Amino acid sequence: MLSFLYPHFLFRIYCGVKNHIYTGYVRSRFAHFGNSVIQYLPYQLLGEQFIHIGDGNVFEPGLQLTAWNLGEHTPEIRIGNDSLFRKGCHITAVNSIVIGNHLLTGTNVLITDNAHGNSDYLSWSVPPIERPVVSKGKIIIGDRVWLGNNVCVLPGVTIGDGVIVGANSVVTHDVPSYSIVAGNPARIVKALSSSEVAKRQ
Ligand SMILES: CC(C)(COP(=O)(O)OP(=O)(O)OC[C@H]1O[C@@H](n2cnc3c(N)ncnc32)[C@H](O)[C@@H]1OP(=O)(O)O)[C@@H](O)C(=O)NCCC(=O)NCCS
Repeated sequence: MLSFLYPHFLFRIYCGVKNHIYTGYVRSRFAHFGNSVIQYLPYQLLGEQFIHIGDGNVFEPGLQLTAWNLGEHTPEIRIGNDSLFRKGCHITAVNSIVIGNHLLTGTNVLITDNAHGNSDYLSWSVPPIERPVVSKGKIIIGDRVWLGNNVCVLPGVTIGDGVIVGANSVVTHDVPSYSIVAGNPARIVKALSSSEVAKRQ
């Protein structure tokens, strides 16, 4: 009865309109915001003046996209074109996170270039929230990368083109192009040989 009164396609139109209105409401706050959509409702947007977003990206609800200007670095987040960030994605930079084109994330993916304090007594003697935020390095993610559900990409990591990161993996080291990594910490489980890569380029 209800689906007769309010058919699903009307609901989808309503959601589409709502998402575009919301995106229009926030887009001017960004350093650059192309023809992309932030679906209603993100969890937190912060430091948008340090965030560049290209065209054709979709950010599903629950997005946390934060660039913290805490002094040591001028933060930057750069996202290319045509990526899909599934629900609950958390991208946080105090330093630099650069993402190429055609990224696909699963749900609840974390990409962070920072942490609360260092691994030393001085840090541990204060509550985590009060520790100075530090970055061990920038994150670079290449083109056509797929990050499975619940993946964490930690500071200082470069992920090459065409990489697949298995569900629930924690990426702590660089990942070469055209490989599959999985586990915690993520290790290579499959890869194209370099001659195969060269042949196809
Ligand atoms: C990474 C993935 C694509 C690999 O698929 P595949 O190429 O078929 O790989 P295989 O199943 O042959 O696994 C290769 C090895 O890696 C291990 N492995 C695969 N995925 C793993 C994961 N997420 N965590 C830990 N180990 C994993 C396998 O156990 C296997 O190890 P073994 O050789 O010792 O048995 C897949 O396992 C995966 O995690 N997909 C993500 C799914 C997802 O998040 N979807 C959300 C929608 S975006």
